[in-house]
Amino acid sequence: MTIIASNWKMNLDRQSAEQLLVEMASCPVGDKVKRIVFPSFTLLDLARATREQIGLANHLALGGQDCHAAANGAHTGDVSAAMLIESGCQWVLVGHSERRQNHKESSATIAAKLEMAQAEGLSVMLCVGENLAERQSGHAEATVTAMLSGSLPHKVDGAKLAIAYEPVWAIGTGMTATPENVMEMHQAIHKYLKNSGLNDVPVLYGGSVNPENANTLLALEQVDGVLVGGASLDAKSINAITLAAEI
Ligand code: PGA
Repeated sequence: MTIIASNWKMNLDRQSAEQLLVEMASCPVGDKVKRIVFPSFTLLDLARATREQIGLANHLALGGQDCHAAANGAHTGDVSAAMLIESGCQWVLVGHSERRQNHKESSATIAAKLEMAQAEGLSVMLCVGENLAERQSGHAEATVTAMLSGSLPHKVDGAKLAIAYEPVWAIGTGMTATPENVMEMHQAIHKYLKNSGLNDVPVLYGGSVNPENANTLLALEQVDGVLVGGASLDAKSINAITLAAEI
Protein backbone atom coordinates (compact mmCIF):
# COMPACT_ATOMS: atom_id res chain seq x y z
CA MET A 1 0.00 0.00 0.00
CA THR A 2 1.34 3.40 -0.96
CA ILE A 3 -0.03 6.57 0.67
CA ILE A 4 -0.31 9.78 -1.33
CA ALA A 5 -1.17 12.55 1.14
CA SER A 6 -2.03 16.15 0.25
CA ASN A 7 -1.22 18.82 2.82
CA TRP A 8 -3.15 21.87 1.60
CA LYS A 9 -1.87 24.01 4.50
CA MET A 10 -3.58 27.45 4.66
CA ASN A 11 -4.50 27.48 0.98
CA LEU A 12 -7.53 27.30 -1.34
CA ASP A 13 -10.95 28.91 -1.20
CA ARG A 14 -14.13 26.83 -1.37
CA GLN A 15 -14.45 26.99 -5.12
CA SER A 16 -10.86 26.01 -5.88
CA ALA A 17 -10.92 23.23 -3.25
CA GLU A 18 -14.05 21.74 -4.82
CA GLN A 19 -12.58 22.00 -8.30
CA LEU A 20 -9.37 20.33 -7.17
CA LEU A 21 -11.25 17.39 -5.62
CA VAL A 22 -13.34 16.95 -8.78
CA GLU A 23 -10.18 16.87 -10.88
CA MET A 24 -8.52 14.46 -8.44
CA ALA A 25 -11.50 12.14 -8.94
CA SER A 26 -10.62 11.86 -12.63
CA CYS A 27 -7.36 10.10 -11.74
CA PRO A 28 -7.71 6.31 -11.88
CA VAL A 29 -6.43 4.84 -8.61
CA GLY A 30 -6.05 1.13 -7.91
CA ASP A 31 -6.28 -0.71 -4.61
CA LYS A 32 -2.54 -0.33 -4.04
CA VAL A 33 -2.84 3.40 -3.44
CA LYS A 34 -4.48 5.23 -0.55
CA ARG A 35 -5.09 8.97 -0.85
CA ILE A 36 -5.50 11.34 2.08
CA VAL A 37 -6.29 15.05 1.90
CA PHE A 38 -5.54 17.42 4.79
CA PRO A 39 -7.59 20.60 4.14
CA SER A 40 -7.88 23.57 6.48
CA PHE A 41 -10.54 23.11 9.19
CA THR A 42 -12.99 25.42 7.40
CA LEU A 43 -12.84 23.32 4.21
CA LEU A 44 -13.51 19.97 5.88
CA ASP A 45 -17.29 20.08 5.49
CA LEU A 46 -16.98 21.02 1.83
CA ALA A 47 -14.35 18.34 1.20
CA ARG A 48 -16.55 15.73 2.88
CA ALA A 49 -19.64 16.69 0.85
CA THR A 50 -17.74 16.94 -2.45
CA ARG A 51 -16.03 13.61 -1.86
CA GLU A 52 -19.43 11.95 -1.44
CA GLN A 53 -21.02 13.70 -4.44
CA ILE A 54 -18.26 12.62 -6.80
CA GLY A 55 -18.09 9.05 -5.51
CA LEU A 56 -14.67 9.37 -3.89
CA ALA A 57 -15.84 8.57 -0.36
CA ASN A 58 -14.21 5.13 -0.27
CA HIS A 59 -11.07 6.18 -2.09
CA LEU A 60 -10.03 9.36 -0.40
CA ALA A 61 -9.62 9.81 3.33
CA LEU A 62 -9.82 13.18 5.08
CA GLY A 63 -7.60 14.53 7.81
CA GLY A 64 -7.19 17.60 10.00
CA GLN A 65 -3.90 19.50 9.92
CA ASP A 66 -3.68 19.56 13.71
CA CYS A 67 -5.69 18.96 16.88
CA HIS A 68 -5.48 19.88 20.55
CA ALA A 69 -4.28 17.48 23.22
CA ALA A 70 -7.31 18.12 25.43
CA ALA A 71 -10.75 16.64 24.86
CA ASN A 72 -12.42 20.07 25.16
CA GLY A 73 -12.20 23.25 27.20
CA ALA A 74 -10.97 26.83 27.15
CA HIS A 75 -8.63 26.64 24.14
CA THR A 76 -9.54 29.52 21.87
CA GLY A 77 -8.70 28.87 18.24
CA ASP A 78 -8.06 25.15 18.71
CA VAL A 79 -9.91 22.10 17.44
CA SER A 80 -10.29 18.77 19.24
CA ALA A 81 -9.80 15.29 17.83
CA ALA A 82 -13.49 14.53 18.43
CA MET A 83 -14.44 17.61 16.37
CA LEU A 84 -12.31 16.32 13.50
CA ILE A 85 -14.07 12.97 13.64
CA GLU A 86 -17.42 14.73 13.60
CA SER A 87 -16.29 16.63 10.52
CA GLY A 88 -15.57 13.39 8.67
CA CYS A 89 -11.85 12.93 9.37
CA GLN A 90 -10.12 9.59 9.70
CA TRP A 91 -6.67 11.18 10.07
CA VAL A 92 -4.83 14.04 11.71
CA LEU A 93 -1.36 15.47 11.07
CA VAL A 94 0.68 16.23 14.17
CA GLY A 95 4.15 17.64 14.63
CA HIS A 96 4.48 19.35 11.27
CA SER A 97 7.62 21.51 11.28
CA GLU A 98 5.47 24.61 10.66
CA ARG A 99 3.65 23.86 13.94
CA ARG A 100 6.88 23.04 15.79
CA GLN A 101 8.52 26.28 14.56
CA ASN A 102 5.70 28.83 14.29
CA HIS A 103 3.69 27.64 17.29
CA LYS A 104 6.63 26.49 19.42
CA GLU A 105 5.18 23.01 19.81
CA SER A 106 7.42 20.67 21.75
CA SER A 107 7.67 16.95 21.19
CA ALA A 108 5.93 16.46 24.55
CA THR A 109 2.92 18.49 23.34
CA ILE A 110 2.88 16.51 20.12
CA ALA A 111 2.97 13.21 22.02
CA ALA A 112 -0.05 14.36 24.05
CA LYS A 113 -1.93 15.30 20.87
CA LEU A 114 -1.08 11.96 19.28
CA GLU A 115 -2.32 10.04 22.30
CA MET A 116 -5.61 11.97 22.45
CA ALA A 117 -6.18 11.66 18.68
CA GLN A 118 -5.73 7.89 18.76
CA ALA A 119 -7.88 7.57 21.87
CA GLU A 120 -10.66 9.35 19.98
CA GLY A 121 -10.22 6.95 17.04
CA LEU A 122 -8.14 8.94 14.56
CA SER A 123 -5.12 7.64 12.68
CA VAL A 124 -2.16 9.94 13.16
CA MET A 125 0.50 11.06 10.71
CA LEU A 126 3.43 12.22 12.81
CA CYS A 127 5.95 14.52 11.07
CA VAL A 128 9.64 14.55 11.95
CA GLY A 129 12.67 16.02 10.20
CA GLU A 130 16.00 17.74 10.76
CA ASN A 131 16.87 21.33 9.83
CA LEU A 132 19.77 22.31 7.57
CA ALA A 133 22.23 22.97 10.41
CA GLU A 134 21.46 19.56 11.93
CA ARG A 135 22.01 17.86 8.55
CA GLN A 136 25.20 19.76 7.79
CA SER A 137 26.66 18.95 11.20
CA GLY A 138 25.99 15.23 10.67
CA HIS A 139 23.18 15.05 13.24
CA ALA A 140 20.21 14.33 10.99
CA GLU A 141 19.65 10.77 12.19
CA ALA A 142 20.15 11.59 15.87
CA THR A 143 17.75 14.54 15.60
CA VAL A 144 15.02 12.52 13.97
CA THR A 145 15.43 9.63 16.39
CA ALA A 146 15.16 12.06 19.33
CA MET A 147 12.04 13.60 17.77
CA LEU A 148 10.47 10.16 17.44
CA SER A 149 11.33 9.24 20.98
CA GLY A 150 9.88 12.52 22.30
CA SER A 151 6.78 12.61 20.09
CA LEU A 152 5.60 9.01 20.44
CA PRO A 153 3.64 8.54 23.68
CA HIS A 154 4.12 5.39 25.79
CA LYS A 155 0.70 4.24 24.74
CA VAL A 156 0.65 4.22 20.95
CA ASP A 157 -1.32 2.14 18.47
CA GLY A 158 0.95 1.19 15.57
CA ALA A 159 -2.07 0.26 13.44
CA LYS A 160 -3.23 3.88 13.58
CA LEU A 161 0.09 5.53 12.89
CA ALA A 162 2.16 6.77 9.96
CA ILE A 163 5.40 8.76 10.07
CA ALA A 164 6.21 11.51 7.59
CA TYR A 165 9.94 12.17 7.30
CA GLU A 166 10.15 15.79 6.19
CA PRO A 167 13.58 17.43 6.25
CA VAL A 168 12.81 21.05 7.15
CA TRP A 169 15.29 22.38 4.56
CA ALA A 170 13.37 20.58 1.78
CA ILE A 171 9.89 21.91 2.64
CA GLY A 172 8.66 24.45 0.11
CA THR A 173 12.21 25.16 -1.06
CA GLY A 174 12.38 23.10 -4.25
CA MET A 175 15.30 21.19 -2.67
CA THR A 176 14.61 17.48 -2.30
CA ALA A 177 16.69 15.09 -0.26
CA THR A 178 18.78 12.77 -2.43
CA PRO A 179 17.54 9.18 -2.77
CA GLU A 180 20.53 8.12 -0.63
CA ASN A 181 19.56 10.58 2.15
CA VAL A 182 15.96 9.41 2.03
CA MET A 183 16.93 5.75 2.08
CA GLU A 184 19.25 6.22 5.07
CA MET A 185 16.73 8.23 7.06
CA HIS A 186 13.82 5.91 6.29
CA GLN A 187 15.94 2.91 7.26
CA ALA A 188 16.78 4.58 10.58
CA ILE A 189 13.10 5.41 11.22
CA HIS A 190 11.93 1.89 10.34
CA LYS A 191 14.61 0.48 12.66
CA TYR A 192 13.57 2.79 15.51
CA LEU A 193 9.90 1.81 15.09
CA LYS A 194 10.70 -1.89 14.98
CA ASN A 195 12.81 -1.64 18.13
CA SER A 196 9.86 0.08 19.81
CA GLY A 197 7.59 -2.83 18.91
CA LEU A 198 5.81 -0.85 16.18
CA ASN A 199 5.74 -3.03 13.11
CA ASP A 200 4.34 -2.19 9.68
CA VAL A 201 4.05 1.55 10.33
CA PRO A 202 4.21 3.34 6.96
CA VAL A 203 7.00 5.91 6.60
CA LEU A 204 6.33 8.67 4.06
CA TYR A 205 8.71 11.21 2.57
CA GLY A 206 7.79 14.90 2.34
CA GLY A 207 9.61 18.00 1.11
CA SER A 208 9.28 19.45 -2.41
CA VAL A 209 7.77 16.28 -3.87
CA ASN A 210 6.70 16.94 -7.46
CA PRO A 211 5.80 14.96 -10.60
CA GLU A 212 9.47 14.98 -11.68
CA ASN A 213 10.91 13.39 -8.53
CA ALA A 214 7.93 11.28 -7.39
CA ASN A 215 8.91 8.23 -9.47
CA THR A 216 12.40 8.05 -7.97
CA LEU A 217 11.19 8.62 -4.41
CA LEU A 218 8.30 6.16 -4.61
CA ALA A 219 10.52 3.50 -6.19
CA LEU A 220 12.64 3.37 -3.00
CA GLU A 221 11.81 0.27 -1.03
CA GLN A 222 11.82 2.14 2.30
CA VAL A 223 9.37 4.81 1.11
CA ASP A 224 5.74 3.91 1.77
CA GLY A 225 4.28 7.10 0.34
CA VAL A 226 4.64 10.86 0.10
CA LEU A 227 3.25 13.90 1.90
CA VAL A 228 2.88 16.65 -0.67
CA GLY A 229 2.45 20.37 0.04
CA GLY A 230 2.80 22.85 -2.84
CA ALA A 231 2.31 20.32 -5.65
CA SER A 232 -0.88 18.99 -4.00
CA LEU A 233 -2.66 22.26 -4.84
CA ASP A 234 -2.44 21.56 -8.54
CA ALA A 235 -4.66 18.74 -9.85
CA LYS A 236 -2.36 17.75 -12.72
CA SER A 237 0.63 17.53 -10.38
CA ILE A 238 -1.04 15.54 -7.59
CA ASN A 239 -2.62 13.20 -10.14
CA ALA A 240 0.77 12.63 -11.80
CA ILE A 241 2.32 11.92 -8.38
CA THR A 242 -0.56 9.52 -7.61
CA LEU A 243 0.01 7.70 -10.90
CA ALA A 244 3.71 7.36 -10.08
CA ALA A 245 2.64 5.26 -7.08
CA GLU A 246 0.86 2.81 -9.36
CA ILE A 247 4.05 1.82 -11.16
P1 PGA B 1 6.12 20.95 0.16
O1 PGA B 1 5.48 20.74 1.61
O2 PGA B 1 5.73 19.76 -0.68
O3 PGA B 1 5.52 22.23 -0.35
O4 PGA B 1 7.60 21.02 0.34
C1 PGA B 1 5.45 19.48 2.23
C2 PGA B 1 4.89 19.60 3.62
O5 PGA B 1 5.17 20.60 4.31
O6 PGA B 1 4.14 18.72 4.07
